[in-house]
Parts: sequence; C-alpha cells; structure tokens
Amino acid sequence: MNIYADNAATTKMSKAAIAAMTPYLEEYYGNPSSLYSMGQKAKDAIEEARRKIARVIGAEPREITFTSGGSEADNQAILSAAATGKRAGKTHIISDAIEHHAVLNTLKKLEGEGFRVTRLPVGENGILSAEAVEAALDDDTCLVTVMTANNEIGTIQPISQIGALCRKRGVLFHTDAVQAVGHIKVDVAAGYTDMLSASAHKFHGPKGVGFLYARRRAEKSYRGRRSGARKTRGDRKRAGHRRNGRRARRIRRRHGTPRRRAYGEARQTHRGAVGNSPLRAERRRENAASVERQLLFRGRRGRIAAASARRHGHLRFVGIRLHFGIARSEPRPSGDRQTSRRRTRLAAADPR
Ligand SMILES: Cc1ncc(COP(=O)(O)O)c(C=O)c1O
Repeated sequence: MNIYADNAATTKMSKAAIAAMTPYLEEYYGNPSSLYSMGQKAKDAIEEARRKIARVIGAEPREITFTSGGSEADNQAILSAAATGKRAGKTHIISDAIEHHAVLNTLKKLEGEGFRVTRLPVGENGILSAEAVEAALDDDTCLVTVMTANNEIGTIQPISQIGALCRKRGVLFHTDAVQAVGHIKVDVAAGYTDMLSASAHKFHGPKGVGFLYARRRAEKSYRGRRSGARKTRGDRKRAGHRRNGRRARRIRRRHGTPRRRAYGEARQTHRGAVGNSPLRAERRRENAASVERQLLFRGRRGRIAAASARRHGHLRFVGIRLHFGIARSEPRPSGDRQTSRRRTRLAAADPR
C-alpha cells in the first residue's frame, strides 16, 4: 500500500468536493453563459462558489476571479500590477528569493522588459523581515509580491506587516497564498492585501482550478497616492462622479448596454424574436436569486422563434400558455389576462 505524504505538492480530492462537482459534470454541464436553464444552473453554482470563497478570505464575491490554478493567478496579478505601474511611470518590483517559480519566472520576464526587480534574501529561519521590505521600497516601486507560506520549508511570512507598509506607501501588495488558503486563516483585510492567489488542488479540490482575489479599490488607491495636495471629500466625490460618468459612457459605446447585449444574444438564439423590451435587463447581480426574461415574438417568424425557444428548453419554466401563436400570461389575481393581439409575448420566469 502506498503512503502519500506530499500534500504540499498536491492533495487527493475530498469526497465532499467530488460530490459537489458531480451534478455539474453529469447533469448540469451547460455553458454558464447560455441563456437556458441548464446554463443558468451552472452559472448559479459558480456564483455560489464565488460567494463561499469570498467569505473564507474576507473578500467580496466580485473581487474573486477564477483561474486555471495558482500559476495563472500569480501571472495575472503580477503582470497587471506591472502594467498599472508602468502607466504611472513606476517600474520597480520587490520580492524575495524563495518564491515559487510561477512568481520568479514572471519577474524574470518583466526584468527582460525593463523592470527593476529586488529579490530580498530571507533570514536563516526562512523568514523575510518587514524591515528589509521597508528599506527596499522607493518612489519607483509599483509592486511588492511575497508569498504567505512557503511550499518547500513551510515558513509563514509576516504578511500583515508587509501589507501595511505597502498600503501606507500606496504600493500594490500581492501574496501567493497557494500554500496557505485552506490550511491557515487568511484574511485579506487584516493582511492589507491587494491581490492574492490560491489553488484548489492544494486543499483537496480539483486540479486546474484556482482563483485570484483583486481588491476592488486597489488600483484607484494606488493612483490616488501620488504626491500632491490631499483632496477634500467634495473633490473626491465630484471626481468620482465625472470618472464614473465617462467610464459608463465609454463602456456603453464600446459594448452596448447589458440589456442590448442580452437582447442580441436572444435574437441570435431564436431568430425571429423581436420587440422593444425583449429581455428584461438580465439581473446578473451577484445575489439575484432568479433570472427573469421576457421575449417578444411577433407574427410567423415569431411562431418559429417560439418553437425554437421551446426546443431549447426555454419554455419549460414559462408561466404562459401558447394560443395560436399568441401567448397569454396566466391570469393575474384580478382576472386580467394581459393579452396582446399584435405580438406574442412570452414572459419567461425561472421559478427558482
Ligand atoms: C507557493 C505556490 N505557488 C504557486 C503554485 C502553482 O499552483 P498551481 O499548481 O495551481 O499552478 C504552487 C504549486 O505548487 C505553489 O506551491
């Protein structure tokens, strides 16, 4: 019988993780971006996982991005922080000599692109001192990346001290917590962490799944820490409104509104679906318990589209009746039938 004792390299999947995943491998394997219920079921599971992970590390669900593992999370964190730094004219990165190769190799690549990388040595005890980080910080530093726990010798670094130093100086702080999440308490707020990488196969989850936590306000606070006069609350508010307004307009121009995008998707799925308010703005908010849609189908093409919707399983949850191609919603409590002669209206409401 083999005795496995290398849980730092990888772990066996737990029965609970296998049981949690199996329905989504065997039954609800739809694409989570698909509009029909099978896809939505998968999407709900992903959002639930995002909420659970966020809770474990003290983050908000929207701050969690799933990746293919710890290496990708490390790469993304470091490369995006470096790009942000470069835009602000800052090209110095601080790390230490005992990081995982996912970090070391990314730093090497950045050195090749002109970044200056300081690799601090650790002490005899394998621990990096926060004082050494403080001494290495300068006005050109855009990122400090220090692992939470080491994969070879198991030392735990003074993350919250290093994070606090970085926050004070307006420098982004990333920690590779691949060997820590699921083993020791990790709290991104207590650790003043801007970005954190983790990997499921280190804590009895599947291989090929990881996540990156990125603090929502990290980039903004980083930019906001330039030298200069402190801004008043009013200044900041006005600047925020202006920025948000500009940003929203830019996104709308480039990608359309969420409603228009969802409408486009629906029209592609069911050619013939028309209407001026076809998809009630998809409620993609993290906590939305249900997804509600409306499609308007008109005339002969509408009937074809309705048939297509039925084939796709969209009508399975629909609280309507189809009558000669005209759909009527179920009578309201008042008895009002809400019929439209000119168009077929399918109010698809997922009852979850
Ligand atoms: C500290 C550390 N960072 C990153 C990784 C890479 O994680 P993954 O195997 O999920 O890419 C590992 C894996 O051994 C690790 O121990």
